Amino acid sequence: MSIEEITLDKLDPQAFIAAQAEAIADSVGGELAINALSGGVDSAVVTMLGHRAIGERLKTYFIENGLMREGESEQIAGWFKALGVRVEIVDASESFFAALKGVTDPEEKREKGITQVFYKDVFARLVRESGARVLLQGTNYTDVEETAAGVKRQHNVFEQIGIDPEEAFGYRVLEPILQLRKPAVRAVARALGLPEAIAERPPFPGPALAARVIGEVTRERVAIVRKATRIVEEELAGSGAFQYLAILHEDMVTGIRESRREFGRQIEVRCWESEDAVTATPTELPFATLRRLGDRITAEVPGVVSVTYNVAAKPPSCIEAV
Ligand code: XMP
Repeated sequence: MSIEEITLDKLDPQAFIAAQAEAIADSVGGELAINALSGGVDSAVVTMLGHRAIGERLKTYFIENGLMREGESEQIAGWFKALGVRVEIVDASESFFAALKGVTDPEEKREKGITQVFYKDVFARLVRESGARVLLQGTNYTDVEETAAGVKRQHNVFEQIGIDPEEAFGYRVLEPILQLRKPAVRAVARALGLPEAIAERPPFPGPALAARVIGEVTRERVAIVRKATRIVEEELAGSGAFQYLAILHEDMVTGIRESRREFGRQIEVRCWESEDAVTATPTELPFATLRRLGDRITAEVPGVVSVTYNVAAKPPSCIEAV
């Protein structure tokens, strides 16, 4: 691999910021650049570096795919506003749900339903309309490594869907954090003055809640997993775990509510101990915590009659369900 990692112990965050801002400014020249902000630490750092480098000539978009957590788009745009960075929220949820209609195969869901709609449809249109010539991307060193190793399809890079952006749309891609792994990205985030809520943000998958809906992803089914997600995040925020999440199952099971039979939904809770998400073990949560999760999810999420906890490790389990 020709890209050289800058490890955390070798990183001088301020020097890195200055060097990358200069590189971005040089490359963009007098043109416009564009980037998509998801609220994760990678895209947040790229947004700040870009704004340091070229200010308003970087157009930053938050693409509302209808699959985010409660209030997420407004919250993230608000954090950046406080930092003096304008983020435009683009509602593209119709396009995503249309592409996801009837799709149940996990890979197809990710590829056709999310990645392709994001890049080919929504983002490509924004790039064309904005007149930008440069695209800033938050690809990090782990993404590069996982792709090279064939472990996973590249998370965010164009090549994965066979697009040469220069050829297809006439723009260049800059990847300012390509040499950093997550801990180094978090150190740069702090040095850039990003709030702890961003610098320490737990991982969240690119396909968002669609990675946690088994079977068809509809607005209604996303709303269910979104409510369960809020409860799991509230209850496990102090757990110190690497990541915690709720999954909506496809199978229905028999339950009983107010003395009547209710054929209802099942939510699976997962909570992980991990360093790098490559391997992970389930957190030994106190049983009282699990019971509280069971009580709250069945009481607060309509139609849910069963709550389970995943006790398998990764591998062979995965962190997400899809
Ligand atoms: P898995 O499910 O493969 O997840 O064990 C490993 C880690 O990666 C996150 N994840 C993603 N992140 N785009 C991302 O940027 C994705 O498509 C994606 N899928 C999974 C997951 O949340 C976990 O931290």
